Amino acid sequence: MDNSLSNKINGNFKGKDIISLDQFSQKDIKILFSLVPKMREIAFKAMPSKILAGKIVVLLFYEPSSRTFGSFSTAVKQIGGQTVEILNPQQFSSVVKGETFEDTIRVFEAYSDAIVLRHPTVGAASKAAEIARLVPIVNAGNGIGEHPTQALLDLYTIYEKFERLDNLNLLIAGDMLNGRTVHSLIRGLSLYPKNTVYLLSPDELRLSRKEYSDFTNRGIKIIEIQNEQDIPKNTEVWYWTRIQKERFENIKDYEKVKNKFVVSQKFLDTYAGKHTILMHPLPRVGEILPEVDNDPRAIYLKTQIRNGTYVRMALLALVLGKS
Ligand code: NCD
Repeated sequence: MDNSLSNKINGNFKGKDIISLDQFSQKDIKILFSLVPKMREIAFKAMPSKILAGKIVVLLFYEPSSRTFGSFSTAVKQIGGQTVEILNPQQFSSVVKGETFEDTIRVFEAYSDAIVLRHPTVGAASKAAEIARLVPIVNAGNGIGEHPTQALLDLYTIYEKFERLDNLNLLIAGDMLNGRTVHSLIRGLSLYPKNTVYLLSPDELRLSRKEYSDFTNRGIKIIEIQNEQDIPKNTEVWYWTRIQKERFENIKDYEKVKNKFVVSQKFLDTYAGKHTILMHPLPRVGEILPEVDNDPRAIYLKTQIRNGTYVRMALLALVLGKS
C-alpha cells in the first residue's frame, strides 16, 4: 500500500504494509503484545469476535507452508473475517498461463482488504506493496529475506517466558545464511539493549557479511561459533532452525551441512541450562530429535505454535480492524 520500506509503524498500524521488522520500534511491539492476551481469550474460549467483520484477506502463497498459512487462516476467522486462499499459484492460477506478478497482485487487491504473501524472491513483498495501492501487504516470508510475523511471535514467546526482551543471551543454530526467520528475529532483538546472540552454524551457512555488519552496527552483540563446545552455559533461549534445503543449487552441498547440530536429550542436558527454552520455527527435519519433545524446556510444539495464531490475530486487528 505504501511504497517505501521505511514505512515505519510509529504507533499506528492502520492500513500499513508489514514487510520487515525494521518498521518496528519497541513501542510498536509493546502495542502489539498488549493485544495478545485478549486474542488468546477470543481463540481459546471460543468467544465471538467481529473485529474483521466484512473483511476478506487473501492468502497468496507461492511457497509451501503449514504453520504460517494455517495460523493466518485461523487468525482471520477467529476475529470474524474471511479468507480467499491461493496456494501454489504457479500451478493453480492464471500464473500458469503467463500472468505477471503485477497483474496477480492487482487482481487480488480488487477482491480483498489485505493480501498475505509468501514468495521465493526477496524483493517480492516490497514490490507487491508498491503495486497494491489500496490494500496492505503482509509479508509471510520473502525468500531468504525476512519473516516478520514469525519473529513477532517468537519475540512474544520469549517475552511471555522471561518478561523482558533485553539483557538476554540467546543461541540461534542452523542456517544463518538462508534462514529468514533468523534475519527477522535478530532485527527484533536488536531493538532492545544488552542482548547477546550466539550463532551456531556450519562455516558455509554463516550470516552474509553484509547482514553481519548491518546487525552489529545496531549495537547487538553477535558471536559466531561453529562447535557445540563453545555454547555458553548461561543462554536463556535456544532457537534451532532447519538447513534451508530449497535454497541450495547443489544437493551435495546440502548433504554436507545438514544435521550438523542435532539436539538430542543428551545434547540438551550437556549444553543447555536448566531454564533454557528450546524454540524452533518448524518444520524440523531431524535437527531436534522427538525424544526431546517432552522435556519441559521444549516449547516449539506448545506455546510457540499457539502464540503464532494469537500474535497474527493481534496484528491483523491493528492493521485492518475498526479502531
Ligand atoms: C519457516 C519459514 O518458512 O521460513 N517456517 C515457518 O514459517 N514457520 C522456517 C523454515 O521453513 O525453516
